[in-house]
Amino acid sequence: MQYVKLGSTGLDVSRICLGCMTYGVPDRGTHEWTLDEAASRPLIRQALEAGVTFFDTANVYSDGTSEEIVGKALADFARRDDIVLATKVNGRMRPGPNGAGLSRKAVMTEIDHSLRRLGTDYVDLYQIHRFDPHTPVEETMEALHDLVKAGKVRYIGASSMYAWQFSKMQYTAERHGWTKFVSMQNHYNLVYREEEREMLPLCADQGVGVLPWSPLARGRLTRDWDTATGRSATDTFGSTLYQEGDRAVVEAVTRIAGERGVPRARVALAWLLHQDTVTAPIVGASRPGHLEDAVAAVGLTLSETEIEELERPYAPHPIAGH
Ligand SMILES: NC(=O)c1ccc[n+]([C@@H]2O[C@H](COP(=O)([O-])OP(=O)(O)OC[C@H]3O[C@@H](n4cnc5c(N)ncnc54)[C@H](OP(=O)(O)O)[C@@H]3O)[C@@H](O)[C@H]2O)c1
Repeated sequence: MQYVKLGSTGLDVSRICLGCMTYGVPDRGTHEWTLDEAASRPLIRQALEAGVTFFDTANVYSDGTSEEIVGKALADFARRDDIVLATKVNGRMRPGPNGAGLSRKAVMTEIDHSLRRLGTDYVDLYQIHRFDPHTPVEETMEALHDLVKAGKVRYIGASSMYAWQFSKMQYTAERHGWTKFVSMQNHYNLVYREEEREMLPLCADQGVGVLPWSPLARGRLTRDWDTATGRSATDTFGSTLYQEGDRAVVEAVTRIAGERGVPRARVALAWLLHQDTVTAPIVGASRPGHLEDAVAAVGLTLSETEIEELERPYAPHPIAGH
């Protein structure tokens, strides 16, 4: 495993982040394709043994049970000081007023629930899970800053939004002397590259680390276009993200993986790891082989010709995943 600094911070993270949305009680929340605790634990352990130190979850994943499973497994298999633990806030946790969003009340309440479920007294990276258009930016940024000062959070990050929204939050924090975001967790992979227009140049200019979510397009980049899996059949959000024209990109991945004699996932992840702006893709792993491929991708060097061949068939997409 390789380790890099997260953006312009001094924080070391593994070049592969384990996406823990895959781990959660299937009949809690909205992801019926998740692995239960017994099936999740060996994968979390395998990731640790492969040198992965960076784990991403969210309060909303499987109604909080992802945080519970991940927190318990990390306590059993790792030393807390060695781990960079990331979670998120914004999604709806309860019906009714103040059950979601980035108000001061929601942020202060949700961090305490996350810490309890994770079984830890701090989160390394606390990320806002989208922009909240119903809360003043000043209110959110000051609340996040207060969490850092209270020792509950080490760094703050953001996730999928327009570049102007991210920029507004950053300059608001700067104007007040509050903590700024150190990372952007966004939707970026070979079949969704709209982030290259505005967000990625902004992050590069500002020294913000980039953590792509769904780096394998939720599995689309790993198999023939028309093949379904148990997850893809029930992944309702995932079914809204991609389009027929993406088939040509998947075919390019297939061709290059075939020439190299390696699984397609390695090629698709290696392409992301070659992008200067990318710190660590957040990979979803539901089988041991998925982790093996993710780790192997870190050592796979693509030629300029291969990169050009992978990029050529891309067709622009409507904004997806905000
Ligand atoms: N911030 C956000 O809004 C946001 C949104 C989405 C995700 N995320 C984060 O990003 C993480 C990753 O998301 P994701 O699970 O959608 O990512 P992904 O890595 O694009 O997709 C994972 C899926 O791809 C397939 N796969 C992975 N490796 C493979 C391999 N080597 N060979 C064949 N198939 C392989 C598996 O599909 P099957 O299980 O179908 O076989 C697996 O479930 C999440 O856990 C979460 O932490 C964040």
